[in-house]
Amino acid sequence: MSKKVYIGMSADLIHPGHMNIIKEASKLGDVMVGLLTDKAIASYKRLPYMTYEQRKDIVENIKGVIEVIPQNTLDYRPNLSKIKPDIVVHGDDWKEGVQAKIRQQVIDTLSQWDGKLVEIAYTEGISSTQLNKSLREIGTTPDIRRSRLRRLIDSKDIVRIMESHNALSGLIVENVKGSNGVEYDGMWSSSLTDSTSKGKPDIEAVDVSTRINTINEIFEVTTKPMIYDADTGGIAEHFAFTVRTLERTGISAVIIEDKTGLKKNSLFGNDVKQTQDSIENFSNKIEMGKRVQVTNDFMIIARIESLILEAGMDDAITRAKAYINAGADGIMIHSRKKEPNEILEFCKILREYNETIPIIVVPTSYNQITANELSRAGINVIIYANHMLRAAYPGMMNTAKSILDNDRSLEAEKELLSIKEILELIPGTK
Ligand code: SPV
Ligand code: MG
Repeated sequence: MSKKVYIGMSADLIHPGHMNIIKEASKLGDVMVGLLTDKAIASYKRLPYMTYEQRKDIVENIKGVIEVIPQNTLDYRPNLSKIKPDIVVHGDDWKEGVQAKIRQQVIDTLSQWDGKLVEIAYTEGISSTQLNKSLREIGTTPDIRRSRLRRLIDSKDIVRIMESHNALSGLIVENVKGSNGVEYDGMWSSSLTDSTSKGKPDIEAVDVSTRINTINEIFEVTTKPMIYDADTGGIAEHFAFTVRTLERTGISAVIIEDKTGLKKNSLFGNDVKQTQDSIENFSNKIEMGKRVQVTNDFMIIARIESLILEAGMDDAITRAKAYINAGADGIMIHSRKKEPNEILEFCKILREYNETIPIIVVPTSYNQITANELSRAGINVIIYANHMLRAAYPGMMNTAKSILDNDRSLEAEKELLSIKEILELIPGTK
């Protein structure tokens, strides 16, 4: 009887290295591929370009592959214990680094039924990391970019979104990595920072066409998805046009807030006159937007201002239920309290009513709580709504002032990007 051979792989960017492993494995027996799900991959690196279904379609048509099953975790043990393969085949490039632990677990598990690990020499000169880099240089399309947010929300415990108000801040969000390897998943087009960077107040005075111009500049040099802050969305009939424009541009989601009349920034709360819309009007706006969108990917997220305007938790929850019924694809709950308590309470109550609706938060004022803690409270998306602009402004102000105070730029120099660094910052400058 032929031996059972198991290979775990992501198979996002199929290259000759994968083909070689499958070919060698098929010489040893019947090959079953444990294809890592989006969730399994996103737990340790970037979301794959292709969906699980697309990747499965490719892998099951590769010569030598008998069967493809999902591998739901980076950890092989659950599948191995179920399948009890005679052999596991893997490239020999996992002996060091993050995968070394996984490798040892595979060896230990296989030993329970006398299974063997066979390691195939790494194919030099090609790797997914290299292909990934090239793909980023090629860029993306509106369709691919738009669809990524839903996939991220489905695959990741927490989706991290950072504000971006121009191409340069977009590039930072695109490329920066934390020391633990964590990246931002996407960008926020903030009405506050986009207006501010244009020297205008955050009162819906910057029109959609102007906002889209800025976004096109950001999209020119990035691939990550974007969530758009549409303020109140305007009147429902106008909002319908905005949805079409945003969707066509490749934006993944729009957030509209349930206020009416002259919009003021939420962080003022009741210090300025702000009026909350009726549930009926706002639900109608959501329904109108959902009716006109063309793709299944685009999301309309309802933002509830009840806590901002001190209308109470019951009002916030009543509205959340109504907006979900009207077709909202997610709920953003906002707060300007220094502590996260009311946000956590809202999530607890809403999660009892609905386990899956994406919940989005903007922890600007309650900034002590970590992304992981918010995730554990049932939150899906965190928006850092204004931090790139707030970081840039003091730097510019201090430098401008220092040059006047000292009558020269020498003193300011130590705070600046060096001339060498700025010349090397954007590829192709030289
Ligand atoms: C924005 O970034 O413009 C927002 C979030 O809408 S907040 O400023 O907190 O209202
Ligand atoms: Mg705003």
